[in-house]
This record gives sequence, structure tokens and C-alpha cells, in this order.
Amino acid sequence: MVSRATSDLHLDLAPGRGVRSGLMEALRDAVRSGRLTPGSRLPSSRSLAADLGLARNTVADAYAELVAEGWLTARQGSGTRVAPRAVPCDRPPGPVRPLPPDLARPAHDLRPGRPDVAAFPRAAWLRATGRTLAAAPDEAFGYGDDRGRPELRAALAEHLARARGVRTTPDRIVVCAGAVHGLALLAGLLRARRVRRVAAEAHGLHLHRELLERHGLAVGALPVDDAGARTDLLDGEGAVLLTPAHQFPTGVALRPDRRAAAVDWARATAGLVVEDDYDGEFRYDRRPVGALQGLDPERVVYLGTASKALAPGLRLGWLVLPAGLAAEVERAVAGEGGTRVSAVDQLVLADLLTSGVYDRHVRERRQAYRRRRDELVATLAERAPGVAVRGLAAGLHALVELPTGDGPPGAAEAAAQRAAAWHGLAVEGLDRFRHPDAPPRPDALVVGYATPSPSAWAGALEALCRVLARPAG
Ligand SMILES: Cc1ncc(COP(=O)(O)O)c(C=O)c1O
Repeated sequence: MVSRATSDLHLDLAPGRGVRSGLMEALRDAVRSGRLTPGSRLPSSRSLAADLGLARNTVADAYAELVAEGWLTARQGSGTRVAPRAVPCDRPPGPVRPLPPDLARPAHDLRPGRPDVAAFPRAAWLRATGRTLAAAPDEAFGYGDDRGRPELRAALAEHLARARGVRTTPDRIVVCAGAVHGLALLAGLLRARRVRRVAAEAHGLHLHRELLERHGLAVGALPVDDAGARTDLLDGEGAVLLTPAHQFPTGVALRPDRRAAAVDWARATAGLVVEDDYDGEFRYDRRPVGALQGLDPERVVYLGTASKALAPGLRLGWLVLPAGLAAEVERAVAGEGGTRVSAVDQLVLADLLTSGVYDRHVRERRQAYRRRRDELVATLAERAPGVAVRGLAAGLHALVELPTGDGPPGAAEAAAQRAAAWHGLAVEGLDRFRHPDAPPRPDALVVGYATPSPSAWAGALEALCRVLARPAG
């Protein structure tokens, strides 16, 4: 162990490892042991590099990675500091992921998958709660139906038919605690049916893939191209998880022949298509692409959520099931003690749906997000003309493809993420969503433009421009 004291920082650099990782570990140790306290300012990378006899870039890279891990924060004007909630114990096992959401407190947040939660319709929710509590029968406060409140299931059946082309009846709808809960119910059911292998989009939401694996299912990678998932390649899998309206994260819509291929495959093999319609209500330039479920309600399970249109904190989602599955899922929910969603929240959502308030809110949000999307495109065209912005027709995120120059695959994405960390910007790289068996796609960032509140949006966009205009070395 080599102990080196800098002007205001004492670091123990472990021998025999890369200089940068040795420096990172020494800094983590200093934070863990309390020698560096939350909020304390670190020397500039230039002066620490001079003190330690290291290249400045080495120190700068180590700082940037520690910012990405949540140990440090970097703000323009106030330098690099120990994060306010400094990481108290060792990192979780497994490879380091950039910006774990509960550790980092980024100045700017463009992570995908989140709506602007500042736009939650508080007043409308409050009014609907008053109406609901006044009108609800006493029985609503009992254990109730395991599938969820009948008022909500009836309202959803009508709304989904009208807005998404879903064909169903209320008795085939099960209310669940967000899409992730619905998917967990389905995974349990597939295992009970002795399904071992399922397919998921080669680039997709890692949380969902990991959830299926935790339930003992082997998840194969279904390639995705400009026409969406290659459903023509489906084979002996028992089920496939798809995002047909707006592929997550590439943003393409599943082409009609691929939609047909998914249904044909399911019919031919008695397989199940799980349609994750997470942001299908947000389509900007044309009418929304209708749900795949409409093509064959007996082969496609539709998975919906209030997380994008209202707020993820509600934990409100719904499964629309084929007749043959509805009773099985109901039994699974009963085994968990009934639906996990509060009856009051269910009744309030039913009220918002039937009163037209929900539709008005979605229309208003669609306009606001479309404006942001247009600003993103126009601003990047001016400030970062080397990037290509894709996946814009719908949803709350865009794929920003990066120029790679002569660099190796992945280098531009990693450099952009390092630069983002420097600018206090939380944004995901496309590779984070890659199935481990899938080949990498061109370097890109997945930019969630709905995430910031209105007051934070301009700053976040500016930070993104700086990152893209000046990739970190
Ligand atoms: C692809 C995808 N599906 C579904 C969801 C919504 O999940 P939940 O309803 O559990 O919040 C998200 C949220 O980020 C998502 O990205």
C-alpha cells in the first residue's frame, strides 16, 4: 500500500492494479471510512493529478466514474464533492451500472421510462377522490374481487377498446400493481404450465427480462431491426414479450407483417404473446397504432399501466387476458391476498376514465411532450448536428445515435456517459438495455425527454447539448 498525502487529502493507493481503479478504490475507501465527509469538496483533477504524479485524465476519469456510481457529485461552479448521501457500504454485487437511481442525485435527469411527475393531476385526483368516497358502497372497503374493482374493470374495457383497439370484457381484466406485477403474475403462470423458454426483444427493459429469469424462465434474445422485433424468427418458445406500439428502447413500431407473424406463431405453437403497451397513448404525428391484442384476444395478453399517463408512484396496471387464462391469473392474485392496489385508487381511476378527465389529461400531456420532443430535435440539429435522433413518432423517449468516428464500438457511448456524469446529467446508454446474448447496436443514448419538470427541462436540454457537442476524452 502506498500512502500519499495531498494538500488536503490522504489517499492509500493499492499497488498492483490499474492506476485509475486504484485511485477510485482509494477515494471510495476515504468516503467509506468517513475521512471524506458528505458535501466535502475534492481537489480539482489538475491539482490532485499533480499531487499524485498522475495524468490529469486519469484523475478526471476516476472522478467521472465515481460521479456515475453516486459517490461524488459534479456541478459546474461548485466543483467535485462527496455526494450528500455518500454511499454507506459496499456496492451491490455485479457490474457497476451508471447512476443507480437511489444513489445518484443528478442535477439533470433525462433517464427514460418516466413521465413528468410534476404534471400529476393533483386537483383532478382530489376531486375524483371526493366524488368516489361520497358514492362508493360500503362493500368497496371490504376485501372485494381478487381481479380488482368492477367499476375500474368496466371503465378500462370501454377505454381500452376506444383508445387502443383492445377487444375484451371486464371479466377478463385483472388489476395489478403496475406492469411489473402483471408480468410477474404471467411468469408464475407460465412456469406452472411448464414453459421453460420465452423470448424477449434483444434490446428491451432489463428489469422485465431479469424478472422473467428470476421466475426460472430462460429468456432468448429476439433481434430488433427497423421494423421492430423479428417475430418471424420465433420458434419453440412458450411466450414472447413485445413492445409493439413503440419498441423500448429503439422507438420503432412493429410493422404489420411482423404483427401478423407474432399472432401466426402463437396460433401455430399455442404460444402466448405478451404485449407491453407502456406508452401506447403517446403517439404524436398520426393516429396511435392499435394494440396487437386486437388481432387475436385469445393469443395475446395485453399489459397496460398508468405509469406514463399518470404516475409510476400509483403502481396501477392492468392485464387483459384470454378467456383461458383469466381464471388462472385470478387464482394467482387470490394466492397473494388479492389485488395489491388500493380500492380507493382503483375507484378514483375509474371515475377519471368515465368522466373524461383522464382523456383530457392524456391529450394535454401529449401536447406538452410533443413540444419537448420538437425542441429536442430542433436544438440537437443546431447544437449537435453529428447525432441522429430516432424513435420519435411516439412515447416519452428518443434514441440519440452518436457519431463514432474511428473509435471502437462502445467508445462513443461510454465517452458520452462520462461527459454526462461531469455535467451532472443522468441519461442511459443504449447498451444498458442489451440482452447479454445480443450483439451491440450503434452507440446511442436513450433520452427520456418527459422526465424533467417544466422548470428543469431547459437546463437538462442544455446539459445534453454540452455532452453531445463536446464528448469527453
Ligand atoms: C418498457 C416498459 N414497460 C413498462 C413500464 C412500466 O412499468 P410499471 O407499470 O411497472 O411502472 C416501463 C416503465 O419504465 C417500461 O419502460
